[in-house]
Amino acid sequence: MLDQITKEHDEARQGEAFSPVANQPNTYNKRFYIESYGCAMNFNDSEIVASILNGEGFGPTRNMEEADLILVNTCSIREKAEQTVRNRLKEYRFHKKRNPGLLIGILGCMAERLKAKLLEEEHLVDLVIGPDAYRSLPALIAEAEGGQKSVNVLLSREETYGDISPVRLDNNGVTSFVSIMRGCNNMCTFCVVPFTRGRERSRDAYSIVREARELFDNGYREVTLLGQNVDSYYWTNDSGEETVTFAQLLERVAQIDPLLRIRFSTSHPKDITDEVLHTMAKYENICNYIHLPVQSGSTRILQLMNRTYTREWYMKKVERIREILPDCGISTDIITGFCTETEEEHQETMAMMEFVRYDLAYMYYYSERPGTLAARRYQDDIPEDVKKRRLAEIVALFRGHSLESMQQDVGRTCKVLVEGFSKRSEDDLYGRNEQNKVIVFPRQNFKKGDYVMVRVESCTSGTLKGVAV
Ligand code: SAH
Ligand code: SF4
Ligand code: F3S
Repeated sequence: MLDQITKEHDEARQGEAFSPVANQPNTYNKRFYIESYGCAMNFNDSEIVASILNGEGFGPTRNMEEADLILVNTCSIREKAEQTVRNRLKEYRFHKKRNPGLLIGILGCMAERLKAKLLEEEHLVDLVIGPDAYRSLPALIAEAEGGQKSVNVLLSREETYGDISPVRLDNNGVTSFVSIMRGCNNMCTFCVVPFTRGRERSRDAYSIVREARELFDNGYREVTLLGQNVDSYYWTNDSGEETVTFAQLLERVAQIDPLLRIRFSTSHPKDITDEVLHTMAKYENICNYIHLPVQSGSTRILQLMNRTYTREWYMKKVERIREILPDCGISTDIITGFCTETEEEHQETMAMMEFVRYDLAYMYYYSERPGTLAARRYQDDIPEDVKKRRLAEIVALFRGHSLESMQQDVGRTCKVLVEGFSKRSEDDLYGRNEQNKVIVFPRQNFKKGDYVMVRVESCTSGTLKGVAV
């Protein structure tokens, strides 16, 4: 678990795809293989792509050798994320040699960032498709089948894929993602997302509620509402008479059924409102857990990052959360070694961590991304060894906090949604509590999708262990 946190969580998750689709009727005449990198939105986009391809007679496969089409849904957030994909492409060469008819497509943020350049740099690539252009996949595949390499990286101001029912590629059948918006208008100076994902737009509230209800009817018990900045969700219907804020959307989804758990990510500290916090307090099925990326504990660095809040403002927000939701889990993202960061400013980030005592943290050192405001305005002047040392200090501090947060739960009883068998043994089940902590306990007669009250008896830094009460 901790490894996952510290090891660039967005790059490690490949090949998680495709179980529920395995038992679909065998009516497809072609097969696609898809691999996803990056954030949850990217994984959810792959499910939209799967849905579009199913409609074209392409069925999914987990076996690259039988694929007619290999797709990689890529991430550009840090240089390492792109390097991972480049290395992966090298491995595809073998398959292309073996099967010259095989098409290879790059989807997602790297496609958007590099556009047609990708075709020049990676000769085996046939298709380059940006995040807003997936509806054109069938046409582009047809072109590529005719021997023409093709690219569509147009960004859109309207596309939300709201009408497409994603084909669920995850495999637990209990938890699922639902995208509620796309793009980002924030322009944090370090970040490539506004360039790869375009302008922010909110998806039709009715289609979101419909999708969540369908998931519930199909046995799912948890949805995570996704957006780069969910608190700025704001949907207006065509006539302009009806508007829905994020707090109102949360309420509508919470009202589907008390047995449907709701999570959301990500909250920008500047946008999360008291209204959202009160809505969370009002509905038991909205999990008391907020991912509230701080990025840095120094006001000067936050300003350079264009995060638009100060250290004090962030701390007040945390206090407000604790006031309204006393048992709320809080997690964060931290970037260390941003341009001009001093040792004192690094210490301020550590002090912020001491103040909040995060339950979970994703920690990175700064990776300059071409074209971003920071790349244009500031020099990436912190030497790599300093960045790495600061990151190691932050990670060590976080480990202490996370262990402490786990230990505090020992002796408590919490409500766990069961997601499946524990990795170690089928005699045990695992699930999560509201605060998103993983809990393992003896199976007895419980099963996937059940809510179970579990008394925590012990813990490691990543997992709670308990018994059903
Ligand atoms: N929309 C979300 C996060 C998107 S990216 C938000 O606003 O919080 C996920 C995380 O990657 C960011 O929170 C940030 O901590 C990290 N990140 C983004 N750009 C980065 C860069 N250039 N170098 C290192 N980390 C970066
Ligand atoms: Fe990037 Fe900032 Fe938008 Fe998050 S809010 S996606 S960090 S620009
Ligand atoms: Fe990566 Fe794009 Fe998500 S850059 S983090 S896949 S929005």
